[in-house]
Amino acid sequence: MLRVVVCVSGGGTNLQAVIDGVEKGSVTNVELVRVISNNRNAYALERAKNAGIEAVCVSPRDYTDREQFNEAFVQEVDAADPDLIVLAGFLVTIPPQLIRKYENRIVNIHPSLIPSFCGTGYYGLKVHEAAIERGVKVTGATVHFVDEGMDTGPIIMQKAVAVQDGDTPEILQQRVMEQAEWIILPWSLNLIANGRVTVENGQVRVSE
Ligand code: GAR
Repeated sequence: MLRVVVCVSGGGTNLQAVIDGVEKGSVTNVELVRVISNNRNAYALERAKNAGIEAVCVSPRDYTDREQFNEAFVQEVDAADPDLIVLAGFLVTIPPQLIRKYENRIVNIHPSLIPSFCGTGYYGLKVHEAAIERGVKVTGATVHFVDEGMDTGPIIMQKAVAVQDGDTPEILQQRVMEQAEWIILPWSLNLIANGRVTVENGQVRVSE
């Protein structure tokens, strides 16, 4: 069983998709061992508790500087002894020491087709605002491994979603979640947990 820690900041609908996948059996070989939020009020923490998963908050507000917060965050991750860390709407910069320690073992979901609308400043609704502003006709979501850059790690899976006339950022966000994120995050996790994902020269290979 792959021991998985999920990091969240908000509503936790991607976390829920993973929980549902594990419960339904479409995600196998996964044990969700801990959910960590930087935000005490994140509804994702309730979702974790409702599913019987240990839920922990590590807030930057409780530490005098970033370094101390990073150390506490790394400790909370390490204490769960994970094989894989899933960033499911986690809007905090991951400490570099964690990225080095868990190379190709941290997965992120991003709500666009990387390399469009990603990098510094592109998160949550801002991504969809930018897509609408640019007038793209297709957007989507990407699951990728996390490296030391911002949204630059090896891409595991992507799914396209149409942008429609009259879309607001909120409407587009919901469509991207329903048609892409909630599908490709559990799917990617299942592939990883069943040993089907390898990384060679910065590229992901999925075996049969
Ligand atoms: C999701 O759309 C996720 O892709 C995005 O935050 C949202 C969290 O929603 N993540 C990023 O923008 C990361 N750069 P959720 O809490 O309901 O899963």
